[in-house]
Amino acid sequence: MIEIHEVTKQFKDKKVYVTALKHVSFTVKKGQIVGLLGENGAGKTTLLRTVATLLTPTEGKVKVDGFDTVKQPDEVKRRTGVLFGGETGLYDRLTARENLEYFAALYGLSKHETKVRIDELAKMFGMGDYLHRKVGGFSKGMRQKVAIARTLIHDPEIILFDEPTTGLDITSSNVFRQLVHQLRHEGKTIIFSSHIMEEVSMLCDTVAMMHKGELVFHGDIKELYKAEESEDLNYIFMSKLVRGNNGYAS
Ligand SMILES: Nc1ncnc2c1ncn2[C@@H]1O[C@H](COP(=O)(O)OP(=O)(O)OP(=O)(O)O)[C@@H](O)[C@H]1O
Ligand SMILES: [Mg+2]
Repeated sequence: MIEIHEVTKQFKDKKVYVTALKHVSFTVKKGQIVGLLGENGAGKTTLLRTVATLLTPTEGKVKVDGFDTVKQPDEVKRRTGVLFGGETGLYDRLTARENLEYFAALYGLSKHETKVRIDELAKMFGMGDYLHRKVGGFSKGMRQKVAIARTLIHDPEIILFDEPTTGLDITSSNVFRQLVHQLRHEGKTIIFSSHIMEEVSMLCDTVAMMHKGELVFHGDIKELYKAEESEDLNYIFMSKLVRGNNGYAS
């Protein structure tokens, strides 16, 4: 469970204050898959970084499975897997296997657990052929698969993906989509940001829409379709931005 309570985040950029998040509140229950939508600069990455303990809220608080992200970051990190778009966090000079072993060690997995987990993930992503190769020579999609495997190495209950399929081809995007279905089956709690409405529509049961740092909608996707009398998420999203959050956010 993720509880985001009245979170405001301000950055000080030279002498100018930028408010990236304004009193954002919503709760993600165990097993929910939430699609985070918003235009460029809406605050999606900032929100995910805050949940992942990488940023401290200026006001408000976030709890992950009851643990406060500021006061108990280690407890939060142990339960959370994060992947930020574009930043794979992998070491080019190490092989894919060595990278995964390195992150497994950070989470305190035993040698045996590490081997079993890497074999499982390699099978899931079809990485068997290149586990022994250095990541430096990998294509974007190959890297992204290793990065996703890295995110899941410690079998976290809560997973945060920031634009996970950006830059992936159709096959790799499909691998990601299958993965989300499997993670759903395992009861994992997921928030992922995306600009691809079709992906959100297909994978999520809940959507959170952000606009200029504010949450303009949070709720069940099917109920949203019913209320809007449309299943065109793109259209609904655009019209929510125009209308703002008056009376719509839940
Ligand atoms: N470290 C920082 N210093 C100053 N401003 C920042 C910092 N990080 C984010 N911001 C600002 O906060 C706002 C929200 O940025 P954020 O990266 O969260 O948006 P986003 O919704 O992820 O956008 P995108 O879809 O482009 O990834 C922007 O105005 C951005 O410039
Ligand atoms: Mg972003």
